Amino acid sequence: MKLANVLIVGSGIAALQLAATLRNDLNVMVLTKGSLTNGNSHMAQGGVAAALSAKDTPKLHYHDTLEAGRNHNDSEAVLQLTKEAPKLINELLNNGCPFDLNENREFKLGMEGAHSEKRIVHSGGDATGKAIVNFLVSQLGSNIVVQDHTFVYELIVNDNGRCIGVKGKLPDGTTEVFYAEHIVLATGGCGQLFTFTSNAETVTGDGLALAYLAGAELVDMEFIQFHPTLLYVDGQTKGLISEAVRGEGARLVTEDGQLIMEDVHPLKDLAPRHIVSQTIYEYLKAGKQIYLDISSIENFSERFPTVSAICREAGVELSVGKLPVAPGSHFLMGGVKTGSIGQTNISGLYAIGEVACTGVHGANRLASNSLLEGMVYGKRLGNWINEQRSSTDLQFFENERQPSNLLKAKKLTLPEHHVLQQTMMDRTGIIRNNAALTMQKNWLESYQIRDWLNENLEHYSTEELTTVFMLITAWLTTDAALARTESRGGHFRADYPNEDNTNWLKKKILYKRNPKK
Ligand code: SIN
Repeated sequence: MKLANVLIVGSGIAALQLAATLRNDLNVMVLTKGSLTNGNSHMAQGGVAAALSAKDTPKLHYHDTLEAGRNHNDSEAVLQLTKEAPKLINELLNNGCPFDLNENREFKLGMEGAHSEKRIVHSGGDATGKAIVNFLVSQLGSNIVVQDHTFVYELIVNDNGRCIGVKGKLPDGTTEVFYAEHIVLATGGCGQLFTFTSNAETVTGDGLALAYLAGAELVDMEFIQFHPTLLYVDGQTKGLISEAVRGEGARLVTEDGQLIMEDVHPLKDLAPRHIVSQTIYEYLKAGKQIYLDISSIENFSERFPTVSAICREAGVELSVGKLPVAPGSHFLMGGVKTGSIGQTNISGLYAIGEVACTGVHGANRLASNSLLEGMVYGKRLGNWINEQRSSTDLQFFENERQPSNLLKAKKLTLPEHHVLQQTMMDRTGIIRNNAALTMQKNWLESYQIRDWLNENLEHYSTEELTTVFMLITAWLTTDAALARTESRGGHFRADYPNEDNTNWLKKKILYKRNPKK
C-alpha cells in the first residue's frame, strides 16, 4: 500500500502541468501505464492555440472554438479558456519553455484549420508536444514520484461515495493499492478504438472505463474527431501529418492533381476537420487515393522535421511533393463530465486533459486547443489543491481501508483488438448510420458487457484488462452515436445528415451507472 496527498493517473501534458503546479510540501504520485514519453502528448505536432498576435483577440479565438464545436460547447468554459491562453503561454516562455520565436523574440505563429488568425504557438517546428513534456518534466520537484508501468484497473470508492484510491497492476502481475486525498484521472482518450488512428498505442480508453465503472458521469461520448491527414501507406496509417502543413499552403489533391476541397467549404483545405475528413473518406471509399501536395512549401524538412521523419520511416519520398493520406481517429471531445477545476460528480475524483469533458470542445475540437485545455485545467486544479488544507498524516486512510471482497472471476470471452478496431472503424467511424451502429452495439454486447461491469477484474492480465476497457468505451461511444439522431461536428449520421437545432443543440447524452447495484 502507498499513500499520497495527490495521486495522478496518467502522465501527459495535463498530468505534468498539474504536478509542476502543486506545492512542493505535497506528497504526489504519478502512475503511468507506460513511461513519461510514450503517450499522445509527447507526439503532438501542431502546437498550442492562443491569441497572441496584434490582430488577434481571445474573443476571436472564442468564436472560432464555438464555430468548430458547432455551438455544442459550454460557452462560459470556452470564454475562460481563450482568455487564459495568452497568459499561460507567456508564463511558460518566461519560465524557459523553448517555443519557436523570430529574430525579434516574437512567437512564430502558425495557421491551422478553422482558425481565423494565425495563433498556433509551436516548438522545434512540429515537435511541440515533446518540447513541452520535456520542459514540464524538468520543472518537477523531488516531492513528485513517478511510478511507470503501473496499470490502474479500479478506482476505490468508499461507503460515503468518496474516491480514496486506486488499485494497480504491476509488470509482474501483482497488484498494489494506492490511497490519496485527491485522485486525478489524466489518462487521455480512446483513439486506439479505431484501426486508423494518430494516437499512441497506450491510448485505449482506460480512464473512461474506470470512471464509468466507479459511477462517474460521462457525456458526449459520440463526438470523436477524425484527423484528415494521417500518412497512408500499404493500407495502413503511419502517423500524423500536422494540419500546420495545410496551414503553410499544402493542398489536398487527387492522383491527377485535382483540388478536392474547392467547392466543399469556403475555408477549402482549412475547413473544420470533420468536413475535410468526410470528404477524403468518400474518395477513399470510391477507391481513389488522396494526396497532400506539399510542393509549394519551401524548406519543408526544416519547418516539419517530425513529419519528415515519419515519411522517411514509411519510405515516402518528400521530393515527390505528394504525401498519400487517410483520415483516422484523433481526439475524443466527450469524456468524464467535469467542472471548471476538473471536479467530477464523485468527491475526491478529478479528471483533466482528454479523458475529461469540460465542454470547451463542443461537437468538434478546434485544432491546437487540446494541449491548451490540458495545461489550463492542470494548472487550475493544481492552484485549487494548493489552497486546500492537506493532511500531513496520511494514516487517515487507516479507517478507510476496504475489506477485500474479491471473488474468483468467471471466465468471460474477449474480442481480438484488431477485430474490435476494424468493426469500430467500419460501423462507428467517420460516417455512421442506424443499421451499422445497431450491428456494432449488438456485436459489442455479444461479449457480455453487462457481466464485465460487475466482474472482479483483479484476476485478469493487463492485456485482458485493456481489452475490457476498450470494450466498455466502444460500447458507450456506439450507444451514444446511435442515440444522437442528427449530425453535428465529429458525429456524422448519413441517415440524419443535418444538424437538428430544434431538438439537439445543447442536449447531452449522459452515462452514469450505480456501481452498488
Ligand atoms: C495537428 O498538428 O494537426 C494536430 C494538432 C491538434 O490536433 O490540435
